[in-house]
Amino acid sequence: MDSKEPEKIYPSGYEPKETNNVDVNVRNQLLSEILKTSPTEFINTDLFTVMSKRRSTRKFTDKIVETVKIDKIIAAADTAPTAGNFQGFEIFYVRSLEKKQQLVEACNNQPYVNAPVVLVFCKNPSRVKLDFPEEILKKFAIQDATLAAAYSQLAAQALGLSSIWIGMFDEQKVMNVINTDLIPSSVLCIGYPKQDKFPKPRRNLKEIVHAV
Ligand SMILES: Cc1cc2nc3c(=O)[nH]c(=O)nc-3n(C[C@H](O)[C@H](O)[C@H](O)COP(=O)(O)O)c2cc1C
Repeated sequence: MDSKEPEKIYPSGYEPKETNNVDVNVRNQLLSEILKTSPTEFINTDLFTVMSKRRSTRKFTDKIVETVKIDKIIAAADTAPTAGNFQGFEIFYVRSLEKKQQLVEACNNQPYVNAPVVLVFCKNPSRVKLDFPEEILKKFAIQDATLAAAYSQLAAQALGLSSIWIGMFDEQKVMNVINTDLIPSSVLCIGYPKQDKFPKPRRNLKEIVHAV
């Protein structure tokens, strides 16, 4: 077999400014290992079951979330698609109890932000090395960060956990707490739910879809 890498074709405007000389055929080893690790208990990980059962939770038990699960939740974020695969986002894993409490205040005094696992997803447009105006790169970074958080949220559900997505916060206050100049896009709070809830009603699919 010819081992020579075939010439890459990019959509117009998506040609990367920089390549990082990584072998595109080998996925990051740590990521692959974490994704392969079995959960610590039997959980139904069928994607559509996970989606249909996910509910936001604002009441968590004190049960500690196992490290293997936290690793998988974070690894899941790293599997999300990103613009040009530049991964224009960062994850801040807030472990300090003091910082979690400060985040409650930064998030409009939402008490459940003080959850067993708190991840702040930030936009990092400077990572997106595409030849587009700054505004477009910012738009890509918010999409990257949002998708990454959504993947983590689903992974948490698949691992028998529940979560609440926090979008209501004072950006600058959150940035002060986690000590960054990157703008946060969401705060994902995760833990074992105090109770299981039925899925919330949604709009009729036919109302959402607009065939044009
Ligand atoms: C962009 C976004 C922002 C949100 N912000 C908050 C928030 O600040 N506080 C909160 O309690 N829930 C927040 N939520 C959670 C929603 O209230 C919740 O997802 C919605 O009511 C649907 O319920 P479900 O997730 O159980 O299906 C947010 C969700 C999204 C997607």
